[in-house]
Amino acid sequence: MAFCKVRDILQMGVRDNAAVYAFDAAGLEQIWAVIKGAEKANKPVIVMQYPAAPLVKMYPFEYFAATVKALAEQVSIPVGLHLDHCSDFDMIVDAIRCGFTSVMADGSTLPFEENVKFTSEVVRVAKIFDVDVEGELGHVGVASKTEDYVAAEDGVNVGEGGISADKLYTTAEDAKRFTELVDVASLAVAFGSAHGVYKVTPKLSISRLSEINAVTETPLVLHGGSGIPEDQLVEAFSHGINKFNVGTEFGMLTNELKKESFEKAGRGAEMYVRDGLTDYIAKKVSLCNIKL
Ligand code: 13P
Repeated sequence: MAFCKVRDILQMGVRDNAAVYAFDAAGLEQIWAVIKGAEKANKPVIVMQYPAAPLVKMYPFEYFAATVKALAEQVSIPVGLHLDHCSDFDMIVDAIRCGFTSVMADGSTLPFEENVKFTSEVVRVAKIFDVDVEGELGHVGVASKTEDYVAAEDGVNVGEGGISADKLYTTAEDAKRFTELVDVASLAVAFGSAHGVYKVTPKLSISRLSEINAVTETPLVLHGGSGIPEDQLVEAFSHGINKFNVGTEFGMLTNELKKESFEKAGRGAEMYVRDGLTDYIAKKVSLCNIKL
């Protein structure tokens, strides 16, 4: 199977009423762990790059894309490559030029009509290169951040206790209109999750998710995956979520393993980190019910 279009992996999710796990990775050891860990569990997986300036400087798009493609060719599971949250049109085009086959056009902070306009423009260009586009409607904010890991949308802090306020949730009416107007491969929706470390246990609104799922055929994406209890994930995955994004806890575990590795593994430090992360991924994707 190896390197795959994200749309094909999403269709496996639609077929099996299940969600594929997608991880933000920032370098070789994390990319390796995502792909080899998913292979251990025999599940499809999506590797995402979050386009924060320092990360892209350290690991430019073309290196990231080439690394994912090279490692994907070594495994038999489907592996997708995706650019996470990006609201910069030129940067998205640059990622496509560098080999990304799926991108997120994040217009979620824009008014509805402007979000439609921005995402449509990305879709127009992406189609020329046969690239998939994920849109976002409603707004998945930031729960909090820790010293070790700055969450995806640093600076957009929403909701008491870090949980998105109801006014930020996606409505079924908007989701229907948006997916009729814009040909996105998937849509990130807000129904109670937030990026970063939750200050209180989140409570997903499965009723809101069901309403959205009833009015659109577009695969839905759950962002802010770190720290959501498993029973809520099982519910979300059976009510239309076909892609599940995880970043913060993977980043935090990487930092912990790096600290430990100096004491425990000496010269084998990199291996220690890579193996610890691979075990985490293999366990983490166990709730993915896609059958290969
Ligand atoms: P977390 O960092 O909260 O796991 O969210 C990741 C995410 O949604 C990336 O798009």
